[in-house]
Amino acid sequence: MVRLVHLSDPHLGPLPQASVSDLASKRILGYINWHRNRAIAMRGDLLSRLVEAVRAEEPDHVAVTGDLVNIALPAELEPARRFLETIGPGADVSVVPGNHDAYVPGAVAKATEAWRAYMQGDHDPGAPSWPFVRRRGDLAIIGVSTARASAPFMATGHVSVRQATLLADKLRALRHEGLFRVVLIHHPPIRGSTDWHKRLIGGSRVRAAVRAEGAELVLHGHTHLATRLELDGPHGAVPVIGVPSASQEPGGHLPGAGFNVFEIDRTNRGWQLMMRARQALHPGGSFEETEEIVWTLPA
Ligand SMILES: [Fe+2]
Ligand SMILES: [Fe+2]
Repeated sequence: MVRLVHLSDPHLGPLPQASVSDLASKRILGYINWHRNRAIAMRGDLLSRLVEAVRAEEPDHVAVTGDLVNIALPAELEPARRFLETIGPGADVSVVPGNHDAYVPGAVAKATEAWRAYMQGDHDPGAPSWPFVRRRGDLAIIGVSTARASAPFMATGHVSVRQATLLADKLRALRHEGLFRVVLIHHPPIRGSTDWHKRLIGGSRVRAAVRAEGAELVLHGHTHLATRLELDGPHGAVPVIGVPSASQEPGGHLPGAGFNVFEIDRTNRGWQLMMRARQALHPGGSFEETEEIVWTLPA
């Protein structure tokens, strides 16, 4: 059995002091927005309690699907790396970036450099290359980057033809290896699953890759919602699971902070996948188990 935990969108605060030149871009909107909304709704102690609850699950691996920071100021990157270290070392935690990690042009390159140990493929000694592949026992983790700076008031993601082609190639090769393939992607690759200004551009390319080559599980963030969707695969539906923000204080219009625990077992005919959702339902409360789902997936 392999135990995998998924969390997303910690949007780590507080924001560092920013200079006027730092904010001479789309960042000024994010800076105002953060002080107006997230500073109140997203509290650090909740996030540390979430990390504690995640560690108590004794996962073999943890997936973090982006939006670690808010406006991708250089001074946000190092605290985000230290946050990842509280979850585990780079070998045991896989990260893909989100739109907030790529808030302005050039930001995502700095972020991926700062968090490189968490985004490197098994055979990529240099800067992360997308999609990365990591093998951990029966698990193959495929990390897709949708992070690209977008215009003010936009929160779109983007998947290029090249990345989608590589994704299909890697999904095919990993199926031949008989591994349980988990795709990590910040933006949900499902049409209509977000507002138009938050959508994934090139999402149809991801859907085509999964339709042709399959995957056993797709994990995403971005919506801050606990969603259970599906993509068509060659041998049936592929679960597509979204998770609330890891730092959302409960009681607001978005669901309180949560994470999902997946237990993956190889069977005679394929896989059994069990998911337990854990969520903060009350301020100051613990992370309660809110849902359990079991899937039987073909090999
Ligand atoms: Fe987010
Ligand atoms: Fe996002």
